[in-house]
Amino acid sequence: MKIKWAIIGAGGIADRRTIPAILKDKENELVAVMDRVEAVAEQIGKKYGVPYFTNEKDMLSAVDCDAVYIGTPVMCHFEQAMTALSFGKHVFVEKPVALTAKESRALVDAFKKAGKQITIGYMMKHHNLHEKAKALIAEGEIGQVNSVRAQFTCWYPDIPGAWRQKKSLGGGGAIMDLGVHCIELLEYLLDDEIEEVKSLYSTRTFSYEVEDGGVIIFKTAGGVLGHIDVNFNIPDAASESKLELYGSKGYILCKGTLGQEETGTLSHLYAPQGDYSAMQNRVVNEPVVYTGGGADLYLKQIQNFCDLIRSGKTDYTYSDRAVQVQEVVDKIYENN
Ligand SMILES: NC(=O)c1ccc[n+]([C@@H]2O[C@H](COP(=O)([O-])OP(=O)(O)OC[C@H]3O[C@@H](n4cnc5c(N)ncnc54)[C@H](O)[C@@H]3O)[C@@H](O)[C@H]2O)c1
Repeated sequence: MKIKWAIIGAGGIADRRTIPAILKDKENELVAVMDRVEAVAEQIGKKYGVPYFTNEKDMLSAVDCDAVYIGTPVMCHFEQAMTALSFGKHVFVEKPVALTAKESRALVDAFKKAGKQITIGYMMKHHNLHEKAKALIAEGEIGQVNSVRAQFTCWYPDIPGAWRQKKSLGGGGAIMDLGVHCIELLEYLLDDEIEEVKSLYSTRTFSYEVEDGGVIIFKTAGGVLGHIDVNFNIPDAASESKLELYGSKGYILCKGTLGQEETGTLSHLYAPQGDYSAMQNRVVNEPVVYTGGGADLYLKQIQNFCDLIRSGKTDYTYSDRAVQVQEVVDKIYENN
């Protein structure tokens, strides 16, 4: 069964990543695009050879589609996803779900009630090295996971009018934009939820109102301790983009895997230790190193969503986690 797609918010990540990914699978069809900015709608519509609109209701009334992708700024997600649901559509909405956990919960619950699928664009869990990390953890290859860390950054200077730089439009800064990816991925890998969280954040390099850097520390329900650094104020070339998982029998260290491409490396060390050694001598073993598979993460997440639609079943595991991620973010912003 071909899945017919309509796009709301065609000009940003939709054009850069999602529409090209949708079109890579012959079982998908792009039927229309919509953007609030007419020139953008026209340009993207012509680029892909489909009708274009500047209003989502006009588009959904005019075209026959199964799924709607929403790639608009965060403050638009809730209303546009509810509109698509009112037209009986399955929805793939970009991360984060909505501005607050309350809105996010209401949105996912509305889809559950209607029996329609909603999925959120957290594509990093589909990275082959993150899948590998999850499998290694499940197989006990680092023992009990005790300590985890993530660093994710993106150089993001002052840009007049940028929605991400206004709290009312984006919901927050580096934590809301980058931190959510790390929280979602770590909870997925650990199959656990963050229960306690503390954070410090500031705006010091740039002059926008949201934070340009944040540090999060947390404890999961299962007792794992974690630390996440997110920054808009470290140059891309100077960022390590690291994901580190340390357990009672070894480690998994990922470098360059947090991002939009299936790149980077995963180093796995299995090093169980017996008796206490007062000398604290370290026997340094060589880790096994795996490399990124180079696949399209956006295609993987689209296929995952389409498989669900084709199966006629619904699965809200990922969307429920995305709501829980926002509960963590709400706690962070309220606590400061
Ligand atoms: N998963 C990822 O890798 C990833 C990467 C970047 C952005 N995102 C997410 O995608 C969403 C969009 O981010 P972006 O970077 O593409 O933003 P952007 O500003 O570059 O693009 C957003 C597009 O939406 C249009 N738009 C704005 N308001 C609209 C409205 N009310 N109705 C219809 N169109 C409207 C804009 O004209 C623009 O074309 C955000 O939720 C962001 O967090 C996800």
